[in-house]
Amino acid sequence: MLVKGKHYRTVWWERGSVKLIEQNALPFEFKIATCRGFRQTARAIGNMTVRGAPAIGAAAGFAMAQAMLAGKAKEGTGLIKATRPTAADLFHAVDRVAAADDALEEAQLIADENVRACERIGEIGEKLCEARVLTHCNAGWLACVDWGTALAPVYARHRKGKRVFVYADETRPRSQGARLTAWELQNEGVPHAIIADNAAAYFMQRGEIDCVFVGADRIAANGDFANKIGTLEKAICAKEFGIPFYVCAPQSTIDAKCRDGKAIRIEERDEDEVLFQTGLCDDGRIGRVRVCAPLSHAKNPAFDVTPAKLVTAYVTERGVLRRGNLIRAAHK
Ligand code: MRU
Repeated sequence: MLVKGKHYRTVWWERGSVKLIEQNALPFEFKIATCRGFRQTARAIGNMTVRGAPAIGAAAGFAMAQAMLAGKAKEGTGLIKATRPTAADLFHAVDRVAAADDALEEAQLIADENVRACERIGEIGEKLCEARVLTHCNAGWLACVDWGTALAPVYARHRKGKRVFVYADETRPRSQGARLTAWELQNEGVPHAIIADNAAAYFMQRGEIDCVFVGADRIAANGDFANKIGTLEKAICAKEFGIPFYVCAPQSTIDAKCRDGKAIRIEERDEDEVLFQTGLCDDGRIGRVRVCAPLSHAKNPAFDVTPAKLVTAYVTERGVLRRGNLIRAAHK
C-alpha cells in the first residue's frame, strides 16, 4: 500500500532483522523500527509497534525464525506467545514456523500468503460493499502485511472508481480508527470522516450507513468472534437498524479448536491507555496528557466477543461464508 506514493508492507525481513512500520508514531511521524533479534520483535508486538491480527501473525512468524536461527526455539515460542493472547494468527504463525524445516522460508511464506489472502478478501468483499461504510478500529493494511481485511473491499471498490465513503470509529482508548484508519484512507485518497465511538448508532438511525465491515482477531468454530473493544455494540446497533454486518478475515484467524466465544481469552491492557492520550500539541511537539481526574482508575479490556447471530457473513479468501459452513470451508 502507498505512503506518499511509495509502496510499503507493514512487516518485512531485511538481513536478519524484522522491519516494522512504527505504528505508535503514526499519524504524526512515519518511522521504520528495526528489530535485531526475537526478543526485540516480541517486545514490538507487545508494545503495539506492530498491531492488528495478521500483521502480528507475520511479525510473530519472523520473530520465531529469528529465535530458531539463534538456536532459541523454546525461549522464542514462550516469549512470543505471551505477547498478545487474543489474536489467533500469532499462535498459528509461531506453530507453523516452529514445525518447519526452513524457519525463515516458512515465515516469509506466511507473510506472502497473508498479502494474497487480503487481496482476495478485497475482491470478494467488494461485491458486498456499498457506498457508505462504517468500520471499527483499524483493519486496513497497517493491521495486515498489505491491503487489509475490513478495508480491502473498500480499497477494491475505490480503485474501481465507485463511490465510497468511510465512517471511521475513533476507537478509544488507543484510537486506532482516528490515528491509523483515517491516515491510511488519506494516503489512498478514500473520502472518510472520523466519528466518536458513541456516534455510530446516530448515523445508523439516520440511514447514513449502508454496511459495516470489521476485522477479527479470533473466530471461534461457532462463528462468535473477538475484535477490538466496541465491535459488539456496533453489531447490536447494526442488527437493530437492519444494516448488514460483515466480518473480514483470512482463514488463519479461524480457530477450529475454540468452540465458542466464551473460550476466547481477552487481553487486558494497562489502565494508562485509558487515563492518558498522546497527540500533537499546539507547539508542534508530541505530548501525552492525562484526560481524567487525578487518582481515577480505569479498566481496559482490549477486545470483546460478538455472537455469531449478529454477523451477516464472513468474508475470507475462500469466499463468503455463513455460520453453518465456516469450519467446513476452513478445512477444505
Ligand atoms: O489491539 P489491536 O490494534 O491489535 O486490535 C486490532 C483489531 O482489533 C483489528 O480489528 C483486528 O486485529 C483485525 S485486523 C485485520
